[in-house]
Amino acid sequence: MAAGRRKIAVIGAGNVGATCAFVLAQKKLGDIVLLDIYEGFAKGKALDMSQNANVLNYDGSITGTSSYEDIAGADVVVVTSGFPRQPGMTREDLIGKNAEIVTQVGEGIKAHAPDSVVIVVTNPLDLMTYHMQKVTGFPAERVIGQAGVLDSARMAHFIALELGCAEEDVSPMVLGGHGDTMVPLPRYTTVGGIPITQLLSDEQIEAISARTAGGGGEIVKLLERGSAFYAPGSAAAIMAESVLNDRKRLIPASCLLTGQYGLDDVYIGVPCIIGSSGVERLFELELTDGELGSLQESGEFYKTQLTDLLGY
Ligand code: LAC
Repeated sequence: MAAGRRKIAVIGAGNVGATCAFVLAQKKLGDIVLLDIYEGFAKGKALDMSQNANVLNYDGSITGTSSYEDIAGADVVVVTSGFPRQPGMTREDLIGKNAEIVTQVGEGIKAHAPDSVVIVVTNPLDLMTYHMQKVTGFPAERVIGQAGVLDSARMAHFIALELGCAEEDVSPMVLGGHGDTMVPLPRYTTVGGIPITQLLSDEQIEAISARTAGGGGEIVKLLERGSAFYAPGSAAAIMAESVLNDRKRLIPASCLLTGQYGLDDVYIGVPCIIGSSGVERLFELELTDGELGSLQESGEFYKTQLTDLLGY
């Protein structure tokens, strides 16, 4: 990364993109460019956030644009553009519309920020991340999908509620696709180092896992229009931080598998280390037959969708 202040582009100035930019600004991670096809929308949100710099003490500029030329030199690009779910929709229902958007965004990134690490948030997440990697042609370690941080954070919250403990002490692990096939892993989820299997009953854990898998849908239903954005936008910002500050966080994220867990040529959530070059290491956990079966089922589901719906 070049010396001086880092540059982060957030594509899509909707609720997820704006929340992500807001968290990045508060964390003083660099100059932020908010890009949207609606220029005034991006500029308006950027100006609103800029006017907040004195109050919240940000460093760095926040600018709005609709031109990809303005993302030149970005170290990280967070992609949030796309249609959100409405009540009754699965994330996969969005595929046609959002694949076209990801194609356009990917071409813009390839042309103007060819050295960036790309973090994809657009749904259906694992499929759109795969598509983004193909469109940009970037090495797979530089195209990562955000879902594991969000899904794990949801699981952590439900555990903290059930146990009555601090959120910070929960260390959750959720693998698999960001959809109905996600795989919460109670055996690898601890609170203060203690596996939750020793702290909660099977019934409590099952209820928490089910609520985690349906965590986004629960919010879509409550909102009635649109889907969650505070937690998804913040989760993307945390991944960007790990890249920008080379933090090497060990977190679950959607990565391209090349044989791990018996899965090949599919993006799915697995534990990995994220640093300045993107995914630096990917971990293959020891799983029970049941856990591995669930993860493979999730991977196979997305592989079929890639072929049937995206023609890969
Ligand atoms: C969610 C959407 C953003 O899980 O996928 O809330």
